[in-house]
Amino acid sequence: MTIDIRRAVVLGSGTMGSQIAAVVALAGYTTALVDIRQEQLDHARAELTKRLDRDVEKGRRERADVDAAWERLTLTTDRDAVAANADLVIEAAVEDLTIKRSIFAELDAVCPPDALLVTNSSNIVSSRVADATERPGKVCNLHFFNPALVMACVEVVPHEGTDPETVEAAVAFVESLGKTPVKLKKEVPGFLANRLLNALRREAVDLYEDGVADFKDIDLAAKTALGHPMGPFELMDLVGIDVVYLIRLAEYEQTGDPASLPAPSITQKYEAGDFGRKTGRGWYEYPAE
Ligand code: 3HC
Repeated sequence: MTIDIRRAVVLGSGTMGSQIAAVVALAGYTTALVDIRQEQLDHARAELTKRLDRDVEKGRRERADVDAAWERLTLTTDRDAVAANADLVIEAAVEDLTIKRSIFAELDAVCPPDALLVTNSSNIVSSRVADATERPGKVCNLHFFNPALVMACVEVVPHEGTDPETVEAAVAFVESLGKTPVKLKKEVPGFLANRLLNALRREAVDLYEDGVADFKDIDLAAKTALGHPMGPFELMDLVGIDVVYLIRLAEYEQTGDPASLPAPSITQKYEAGDFGRKTGRGWYEYPAE
């Protein structure tokens, strides 16, 4: 049986959720972007408008396509109203297992019984939320990368009980977005790309904390010797140091291995509220435009 996806809901209008919703609306789906805070939705609308208008100016998208995507995209705080008609819900809320489990249980109660419920979590594997629902076979991870409007990869990660039709539909959905699905055969926290990235980041932070080099020079090595588009410190500022910190804590909670805990310099920036681009300061400074 093929699963027909027409209406999608994205939960959480932070950096990831808002760009994922834009990608989905641009691909032709009737899309709702949901948040509990109206101010966050207003911010998401302003940021997306800026991004998409710039894409039009630069000739990367057609004005008509962007206008049509806005027609298809609703920003709302009324989750249950849009979830009641959804074929697919993408959860992009905070990396907190308790919150995610209650979201999945609530979605299960309001969404149509055939709807797929997926999480964009990079670290919390879907088996940990699937059993909060009565439809574990329709649950998997669909992991986008930051900035979601630009990055091609989306990891498709089933848990042991995910139905093969769900995986098939998820892969077809990712392809329909013009993205590249990368399939995992089994769950592992961090999936593929983040595990590769974590290895690099861990080494970069160790080198910095050991006083071997300035973080700017470590970034320079990654860019000029390895051809990476951004160094590991620039990337932390893009992804958000709060996100990096919470991912490490979520991993520690799953592994119990002290090596999973955030490094002292990351904890210090997290506690100071220096989250990177979004707060104007992280490893680097980002003066307001
Ligand atoms: N949102 C949307 N589009 C963006 C963007 C953003 N935050 N930043 C850049 N872009 C787009 C814009 O179209 C921009 O063109 P413009 O300046 O004319 O508008 C274009 O990318 C080029 O940007 P820049 O000239 O500023 O810089 P780059 O050429 O270096 O490209 C980049 C930016 C695409 C972000 C590139 O540096 C890159 O690929 N960096 C690595 C990103 C990466 O590794 N992402 C994965 C992070 S891990 C993750 O997401 C996992 C999660 O679980 C934490």
